Amino acid sequence: MKYILDRGYAYEILEWAYKKNPGPWYKHSINVAKATEQIILELKKCGHTLDVNLAYNAALLHDVGRFKGFTKSVVHSYDGYMYMNDLGYLGNAIICVTHSFPCKNNNIESAADWSLVPVHMKKLLVKILDNNFEYDLYNKVITLCDALADAEGFTILEKRLISVGLRHGTNLNTTSHWKGFYEIKSELEGLIGRSIYSLLPGIENSIYKKIDY
Ligand SMILES: [Fe+2]
Repeated sequence: MKYILDRGYAYEILEWAYKKNPGPWYKHSINVAKATEQIILELKKCGHTLDVNLAYNAALLHDVGRFKGFTKSVVHSYDGYMYMNDLGYLGNAIICVTHSFPCKNNNIESAADWSLVPVHMKKLLVKILDNNFEYDLYNKVITLCDALADAEGFTILEKRLISVGLRHGTNLNTTSHWKGFYEIKSELEGLIGRSIYSLLPGIENSIYKKIDY
C-alpha cells in the first residue's frame, strides 16, 4: 500500500486543495497532523514499528477531499479517496475514508444524509470499508486525532464532538459514533500507558475557549 512519505509534497497538495476551497479545515488538518506525530512518536518509544512521516502526511491529507467545496461528510471522504488514489497513493486514499468511521461496527448506511449520496459513491465507500474492516495503528491514530484538533489547536474529545454535533446535527447513530472514538482512545492509551491528552501541549486551554456551533 503506497503512502506519501515526503512532507514537502504532502504540503504542496494541501496548499493546492486549500486554494480551491479556503476554510478552517486547512488549519485543522495541520493540527491533526501534529497530534498524530506526537502519538506515533510515543507508540514508537513503546516498541511499535511505525513511520512518522507516513502518519504525519496521511493525517495532513485526511480531509483533502474538501478541495471540492462544502459537501456532506461522506462525500468529502469519497472525493479525497478518488483524488489520492488517482495520484497513486492508495494508503492515503483509504485514510480519507476510514477517518470518518470511528466505529467499525457502525452500519455505513446510517451515516448522516446517506440517502443523498449518489449510488456509485455508496458502492465504493461500502467496498473500501469492507476491505479495511480491521484498522491498523495509522488509521486508529488519525481517526482519533481528527476529533482532538480543530483550527485553533488541540482540544478534548468531548468539546470537539459536541461542536461537530451542534454544527452538523446528530442522529440515532451518533452515540455509537462517539463510542468509537472513546474505544480507540482507550486502546491507544493502553498501548502507551498514559493519557493521550498528556502528549498534546496546550490541550488544557481548549476548555477555556468558546465552543464553535
Ligand atoms: Fe478532519
